[in-house]
Formats: sequence, C-alpha cells, structure tokens
Amino acid sequence: MSRNGIPVRLRWLLAMAASGVLLTVPSETGLRAQEPTEASIASGRRLYHQKADCQACHGWSGNGDKLDSQAPDGADLRVSTLSRDQIIFVIKCGLPGREMPAFDRLSYTDDRCLGRTQADLDKLGLELPDPGSTLQNREVERLADFLMTKVIGKGEMDRAACIDFWGEDVNVCAEFQ
Ligand code: HEC
Repeated sequence: MSRNGIPVRLRWLLAMAASGVLLTVPSETGLRAQEPTEASIASGRRLYHQKADCQACHGWSGNGDKLDSQAPDGADLRVSTLSRDQIIFVIKCGLPGREMPAFDRLSYTDDRCLGRTQADLDKLGLELPDPGSTLQNREVERLADFLMTKVIGKGEMDRAACIDFWGEDVNVCAEFQ
C-alpha cells in the first residue's frame, strides 16, 4: 500500500525518525543515524563534562587522569579502540564489576543489556556504581558523536588537539605550549 508513491512503512519510519522517536536506526537496515555535527559534538562535550560527569573518572580530556581523586580510575579513552556502537553500549550498560556505571535508566530492567537483569548481576556478584544522572538515548548519541570525533583513539593531546577539542583556544591549552 502506498500514498504519494511512498510505501506506507517507509513513511512511518521517516515520521518516527523525524519525531525523534526512532533514535537509533538499526544498523542492519544500512541506514545510519545522523552524521556528527558541530552542534551535536559541542552538546556531547557538555554532557561529558557536566551532566554525565565522565571526567570525574576519565579526566577532562578522556586520558584517564581523573578529576575526582576519590573516583575509580577510568580507562584512557584516548587510546580506546572501541567502535561507536560499542561505546554506546558501554555508556548505556556500563561494565558490571569494573566500576563503569550504566547511564541508561532502564539498563538491567529488560533485555537491552545482553539480556541480563539486575538479579543476574546480583547472582554473579557484579556491582555497578551509581551513574549520578542517567542519560536519554539522544544524549548518548551526542556523547558518542563527541567521543568518536575528539577522544577515542586520538592518542596523547597536544596544543592543536586541545584547541580542536574545545573549539577555541582556552586557558588549559596553555599547558601544551
Ligand atoms: C565512576 C567512575 C566512572 C564514570 C563516572 C565513568 N566511567 Fe567510564 N569507565 C570507568 C572505569 C573504571 C572503566 C574501566 C573499566 C576497566 O577497563 O576495567 C571505564 C571504561 C569506559 C569505557 C571503555 C573503554 C575501553 O576502551 O575499554 C568507555 C567507552 C567509558 N568508560 C566511557 C565513559 C563515558 C562516556 C562516561 C560518561 C557518560 C563514563 N565512562 C563515566 C569509570 C567511570
């Protein structure tokens, strides 16, 4: 069935995508979520430093030089080799038993984290730290935009990378003179 020549199912998909209800287009379809934009990257950077406070454990640049001395030692994300999908999975589901919190409010309540529930984690003795604030899917997407463009696999930071990271020459970049 079609109206205006566009198959109904495709129209539905497009409407869902436009309304933001369809947040991650399944990769099997070959469609991809939107390419990172300057705005999504800047928004992801703010989430990293503020709402999600990833920097408490991973450092402001993601190199694992944590900002909160009481916090667990986060991984050096600048040498990470994870893919975008893997990053999104780790943010949503955390790393049980390894002090990386799960930021999806519904993680471990249904089958979204490899089918495991909180009861399974309890049985295995795997703990997850409190994420502070949870993130919506669209926020996780922006974080992934930021991380993939500025952090993951980018290696040690220098002055040029610092200015690119912040989008301007900020004070902290002076330490890379
Ligand atoms: C409470 C501390 C803490 C916070 C907050 C935290 N992390 Fe982590 N994260 C960790 C620890 C610890 C590991 C390493 C686990 C290991 O390798 O044993 C880790 C691992 C990761 C990894 C896997 C890296 C790899 O290559 O294996 C990613 C990606 C990651 N964190 C991203 C994030 C992001 C993005 C945020 C913010 C939304 C965040 N983390 C917040 C502690 C934290």
